[in-house]
Amino acid sequence: MERKGKLIVIEGVDGTGKTTQVKRLRQALQDRGTPARVVFFPNYDSESSALVKMYLRGEMGREPGDVNAYAASAFYAVDRYASFKRDWEDFYRGGGVVIADRYTTSNAVHQCSKLPEDQWPDFLRWLFHFEYDLLGIPAPDRVIFLQAEAAVTEKLLLARYGGDESREDIHEADRAYMARARKAAEYCCCTLGWTPLLCTDGGAMRSIEAIHQDLVSLLDI
Ligand SMILES: Nc1ncnc2c1ncn2[C@@H]1O[C@H](COP(=O)(O)OP(=O)(O)O)[C@@H](O)[C@H]1O
Ligand SMILES: [Mg+2]
Repeated sequence: MERKGKLIVIEGVDGTGKTTQVKRLRQALQDRGTPARVVFFPNYDSESSALVKMYLRGEMGREPGDVNAYAASAFYAVDRYASFKRDWEDFYRGGGVVIADRYTTSNAVHQCSKLPEDQWPDFLRWLFHFEYDLLGIPAPDRVIFLQAEAAVTEKLLLARYGGDESREDIHEADRAYMARARKAAEYCCCTLGWTPLLCTDGGAMRSIEAIHQDLVSLLDI
């Protein structure tokens, strides 16, 4: 039987600290000498993200719904496929641990929000079949879902752009869309077996270090 590694995905709506935690985790694994690879999606450094960039800049429409859930998913899926083939397939097949900042699971969160709820199960079945069975990129072994109160992440996201809302992409700029994404994320977390990790406490983010410690215990790596 073909050996395979382990794929761990850190998921959550925008501003919940995914990138911060994945970078912190990378540091911890390096310090311990654990051989692990970290991958970020979308892979903005690669040409494979060209369509994602066009979409987020609004070149195919200013509203997120202007590009339907299936088309937008395809843009992100090919970016992941290219990353897998070029950067981490060999490492993963050799038994390596790969940690992903967002993955197919982000399409689940962000694209469900364009569809009525009664279409979510069909869309999710299509999405996972498309990427894991047909394209053949690995399904995650674990998905950790970073949860945070909406008011807290909104404040952090705006701070990321120095308070300038005009720098947000078409998802971030549409607050109603973000609210639906949050609802879709909760649905996915409950129905798809993701592990929730609460990152806020009493209207504020918990410390990066406290969340990191929880993440390490959950992952057991
Ligand atoms: N635990 C935390 N406490 C305070 N600020 C945080 C924390 N985690 C992340 N941030 C900040 O919040 C913003 C969003 O974090 P980021 O990791 O980019 O989130 P995501 O990748 O989920 O969108 C960044 O400015 C980051 O520095
Ligand atoms: Mg991020």
